[in-house]
Amino acid sequence: MCGIVGYIGERNCVPILINGLKRLEYRGYDSAGISVIFDHDSTVVKNKGKVSLLENKIENLNLSARLGIGHTRWATHGAPNELNAHPHFNAEKNLYVIHNGIIENYQTIKKGLQKLGYEFITQTDSEVLPHLIDSFIKKGNSLFKSVQLALGEVEGTYGIAVIYENEPDKIIAARKGSPLVLGIGENENFVASDVSAILAHTKQIVYLEDGDIIQVYKDHFTAKTILDKEVEKEVHEITMSLDEIDKGGFPHFMLKEIMEQPESIRNSMRGRILFDEGTSKLGGLESVADALAGSKRILISACGTSWHAGLVGKYMLEQFTRIPTEVEYASEFRYRNPIIEKGDTIFFISQSGETADTLAALRESKIRGALGLGICNVVGSSIARESNAGVYTHAGPEIGVASTKAFTSQLVVLSLITLLIARKKNMSLVDGKTIAGELSLIPDKISEILKLNYEIEKIANAFKDAKNFLYLGRGYNFPVALEGALKLKEISYIHAEGYPAAEMKHGPIALIDEKMPVVFIAPKDSTYEKIISNIQEVRARGGRIIAVASEKDNDIDKLVDYTIKIPDTIRMLMPLLTVIPLQLLAYHIAVKKGLNVDQPRNLAKSVTVE
Ligand code: G6P
Repeated sequence: MCGIVGYIGERNCVPILINGLKRLEYRGYDSAGISVIFDHDSTVVKNKGKVSLLENKIENLNLSARLGIGHTRWATHGAPNELNAHPHFNAEKNLYVIHNGIIENYQTIKKGLQKLGYEFITQTDSEVLPHLIDSFIKKGNSLFKSVQLALGEVEGTYGIAVIYENEPDKIIAARKGSPLVLGIGENENFVASDVSAILAHTKQIVYLEDGDIIQVYKDHFTAKTILDKEVEKEVHEITMSLDEIDKGGFPHFMLKEIMEQPESIRNSMRGRILFDEGTSKLGGLESVADALAGSKRILISACGTSWHAGLVGKYMLEQFTRIPTEVEYASEFRYRNPIIEKGDTIFFISQSGETADTLAALRESKIRGALGLGICNVVGSSIARESNAGVYTHAGPEIGVASTKAFTSQLVVLSLITLLIARKKNMSLVDGKTIAGELSLIPDKISEILKLNYEIEKIANAFKDAKNFLYLGRGYNFPVALEGALKLKEISYIHAEGYPAAEMKHGPIALIDEKMPVVFIAPKDSTYEKIISNIQEVRARGGRIIAVASEKDNDIDKLVDYTIKIPDTIRMLMPLLTVIPLQLLAYHIAVKKGLNVDQPRNLAKSVTVE
């Protein structure tokens, strides 16, 4: 997956493209490039590595143009080097294409073009696009028609933008499977993978749908489908501000986002808890609330951190609604002919709303007639738009690649959904009120935990050189163990595993020695005594122990090396609290190792390829 941005207007596009690319770096950052057209001439500049390196290279060139496109890459086909960086171009170097997605039949197209004499200089799938478009132009078609015809031959996914020296008054952009928006300005227009790239210039946004192709001029645009049907596009006014996507004084987006959690989850629950009725009100689910409560089975499909949220959701839903709930990785779900029956409801959880596997799983489930509901953070994202109904998590933009505030907001939404269904079924008013009341106390409790930041930083210092980590938890805290381990892996590159604490004796216990740090999530709940036994087992084998424990637990200190004491809540909401110290621990270890916390190697924020 990659980030794309384009500009046409009256200003110099170079700084606009560079700043847009910087905002899109979360989508990939192994190479970047721009191409611009000026006075019937054009140029392309590319660089391996981050956008700042491209910026340095461009600085000395004195480039100025009113039309241009830019790309930041996350390699799928071909090594992450300068040659394979976008934009790609035709032999005459007067037609440029940037592409996000995968051209699945590129080998076939390439062979066909090679027979016509086209030469390829990169290892990418994307390079077929400029040559294929060029081949249609050479047959006398306009740029627009040529792009349309070229995309008619392409299998796979794309968000593209194309510019051409001989038609220097427009950008052609199209989408299938990869996100793309059009931004409308005063005598200037923009295209981008998402609004963050162009928010500094406009809040008037048109969301492209799969199959859309647009011609963007500086003062207007026209829209059709790839198959040449007319389409009406609506202009949306978005409310997100630039402040919301800046670092706000924190050294990293990840820390900012961890610290924002009291506020972000307040936003997730705002206006959604009905305290007197002990239930929740979720506008997006109103039309399907009865069908949801009548579900015979609930499935949850997601990837990464969102999948961990789904696991917590399973525990909540099964405990309180008694509806059997299964959680499955979207990548597995879509390819294994899953059993979907009448009466099944499927939730698709995705921060970005663009994860390719989750989106494909949603589409597959819709074909099979299931009720597909989205739980997304990014407003207007593909999953949000394509699901039958859904709930936004309202966590605000999450830029750090390692997901933090999106996870806790997903947990809030899942608890609100649980409350909604359970109260429609058999949960008493008293129990409903207890959950609603406890939920409303969570933001303040998270604020308390965040005050331990310095203490956790000291623990991180003691463990920064560890080579492995084990995270153990039971019940609701087992998915938190998985999430804690994932956070550490993602940003500190330390191997870490999450396990249900009791399973330790069936394997991981063999790994324990004095070099192995073990993080126990051990709040005082019904499994506390059992987890203390597991702690004893690790202690007996010399393992170094960090425990996340209840603030009133004075006994645990003597059994472990470090304790992080946190407030209590009811069991179903405990993950909202226990995950916070684990986020901070991973963050500080990565910082102490001098790593790039917000953009860890090989990862991307939004995985829009399979
Ligand atoms: C990527 C990100 C993870 C995220 C996962 C699912 O792998 O690096 O942080 O959890 O995708 O993303 P989604 O946007 O669908 O929640």
